[in-house]
Amino acid sequence: MTAATSVRFAHRHLLGVEGLSPDEITLLLDLSESYIKQSRAADKKATLLRGRTIINLFFESSTRTRTSFELAGKRLGGDVINMSAEVSSVKKGETLIDTAMTLNAMHPDVLVVRHPDSGAVKLLSEKVNCAVINAGDGTHEHPTQALLDALAIRRRRGSLQGLTVAICGDIMHSRVARSNIHLLTAMGARVRVVAPPTLLPACIDRMGVEVFTDMRAGLRDCDIVMMLRLQTERMQGSFVPSIREYFRFYGLDYAKLEVAKPDALIMHPGPMNRGVEIDSEVADDIDRSLIREQVEMGVAVRMACLDILTRNLQSNEAAT
Ligand code: CP
Repeated sequence: MTAATSVRFAHRHLLGVEGLSPDEITLLLDLSESYIKQSRAADKKATLLRGRTIINLFFESSTRTRTSFELAGKRLGGDVINMSAEVSSVKKGETLIDTAMTLNAMHPDVLVVRHPDSGAVKLLSEKVNCAVINAGDGTHEHPTQALLDALAIRRRRGSLQGLTVAICGDIMHSRVARSNIHLLTAMGARVRVVAPPTLLPACIDRMGVEVFTDMRAGLRDCDIVMMLRLQTERMQGSFVPSIREYFRFYGLDYAKLEVAKPDALIMHPGPMNRGVEIDSEVADDIDRSLIREQVEMGVAVRMACLDILTRNLQSNEAAT
């Protein structure tokens, strides 16, 4: 048993970062490291999940999360089924719970679920026998995104402790922001949120962050700049006067980045809207942008999550 696996991960599901201890987060990050190596090798296939069934159930569109969970499951030797709500019986009026119960009857081992409603994944987890991973629920949490972001930062900076991270943009509608705030504060980073007042949720300061409405003030001397997309699909009405105005005041370009630390790293969970929240040149800066590395880390982190949760299933199966 490695040092990483000597910490117990006492959760049947992964529904959020909130509630994970620093040791549990470190366990997942350490385990992910070994899966980076496996993903870079010519032979990427292992047998850890042989005989296990993973269902990706997506009620919202996705490129990175869905593909990386599929790759993660397959690289560990599991059988992976992808289900999109668009082509399922949800279109014929079947409810979330009935869909979950139907899939549960087929004895999957892990359900990976993305849903537009906050709390929907937790509700579903209460109705099934398998492990459930939240692949993003409404504006609530996207735990594997925060874990992959943490892994990308830790690999460049050695530790999260003591770093100043500015999360900028549409904080109000961002599950990525919420999961990152939980994770980064738990791991000893200082978190700032930077947004126009219309895109800041009420009581955000209660999450232990510093709040800025001026981009330059928020970016001053920070180590990491994490940009977020305007989530127009979750907005009713307009939250910014115009895209042009938004980019002028809140879009990340080299002029605004100048006030951050000279070696500050740039992150974005994707999908990016170039010229809206981030300038193309900054996004593609090979020395400072971690965006592609984030995508790579996504597969490793999801392999680690599938590993840990199925390990827990194994202990439960052995006990019954
Ligand atoms: N970051 C993220 O969740 O991307 P997708 O929507 O493409 O999965």
